[in-house]
Amino acid sequence: MSESPHQTAAPSQRNPFRPSFGTSPYYLAGRAELLQDFELSLAEGPGSPHRTILASGLRGVGKTVLLNEIEDKARTQGWIVLRAYPNSDMISELVETTIPTAIISIEQPPERKLSGASITGVGSFRTEAHSRAEELRSVPTLITRLRELSDAITGAGILITLDELQSADLDQLHRLATAVQDLMRDERDIALVCAGLPHGVDTLLQHEGTTFLRRAFRVDLHAVPTEEVSKTLAITAADSGRPFTDDALARATDMCRGYPYLIQVVGALSWAAAGIDSSGTIEAAHVETASQRAIDRMTSHVHRPALSRLPEGEMNFLRAMAAIIADEGAREPESVTTTNPETRSAKTGDIAAHLGVEPRGLSTWRSRLITRDLIEPAGFGRVRFTLPYMDDYIRQQDA
Ligand SMILES: Nc1ncnc2c1ncn2[C@@H]1O[C@H](COP(=O)(O)OP(=O)(O)OP(=O)(O)O)[C@@H](O)[C@H]1O
Ligand SMILES: [Mg+2]
Repeated sequence: MSESPHQTAAPSQRNPFRPSFGTSPYYLAGRAELLQDFELSLAEGPGSPHRTILASGLRGVGKTVLLNEIEDKARTQGWIVLRAYPNSDMISELVETTIPTAIISIEQPPERKLSGASITGVGSFRTEAHSRAEELRSVPTLITRLRELSDAITGAGILITLDELQSADLDQLHRLATAVQDLMRDERDIALVCAGLPHGVDTLLQHEGTTFLRRAFRVDLHAVPTEEVSKTLAITAADSGRPFTDDALARATDMCRGYPYLIQVVGALSWAAAGIDSSGTIEAAHVETASQRAIDRMTSHVHRPALSRLPEGEMNFLRAMAAIIADEGAREPESVTTTNPETRSAKTGDIAAHLGVEPRGLSTWRSRLITRDLIEPAGFGRVRFTLPYMDDYIRQQDA
């Protein structure tokens, strides 16, 4: 990877952008420091705060990709990675399938153990003692299984990752946290990294039995700063041999509004448009061709699923909000990375007036929409949409 555009390189045949969920991008924007903290924590030893991480963020902000990258860092250090899935069988899957498979994959072949035993002469005794112990704990628990795995690893540790944490079963999560904590108490090398949707995670953490996770190192994945967006687009395109022109890069950066999924979609479509033109560079016209399609992609993959089955009252709240923002919108340029929290926000009082209700009458809808991660407070008495282009989509539906 290089930071200087390869103006003369022939464009590769393959689009370097990765516009699909869960797929790691060619260049990862804005996560370098966190990944370095995690990598250091593996070498630092038990007790490092970055060995328990809880990342939260909206759909498409890069949670799964972050987990992928964290897993890669761990594997590079020789750690064993176990993926837990947030279903009602989470623990039994780990105990019965995932951990045994990991143990088998790292265990030395049995012949070597036996030949070592015959040299010392106490091998048979040890083997018997071992099988007796196995018998005694014939029903393995997550703790015993993790200990077995930890015993089998030398010089490294165990990383457990859990995506879509908001969907986890509380009892299963409690058992996972208890087991990880137990190994940590014994100074074993173990790390737990979870990711989920902001409000779902907060709600989960309010329950009893999640104290351990409440103490985790919290990472709120937000929009990526504009410079990082620009750098990501520029490096990804240039390294494939088809760089952006300056104008095109500025326009594409602006379109992404700091949202990681859009970086990949805008990049992929602009790259493709330039390819169809057999152009060695991505020009502003190519970004223009891509722009409406990128927003449509965002709509079908993010907006529409987020709004499906939304009760009418909440939908009306959003419609009023979108209308008010459009009226006031011309005031300031649009960007989710702005430092002004009131940009593209609406006053709750104005929303109430628009709907012809008392402001107090809105509070239930407001809080439900916040719970769904669709809107967020934006300064005193104001709210705004969490996802870019959501207001445009809502207005289009109304038109
Ligand atoms: N830091 C980043 N830099 C550049 N692109 C990114 C980054 N993080 C994620 N992406 C891209 O954004 C898209 C969405 O990423 P990902 O699937 O990780 O999101 P998510 O937060 O897990 O979404 P969901 O909540 O729907 O599962 C992918 O196309 C991915 O390549
Ligand atoms: Mg995901």
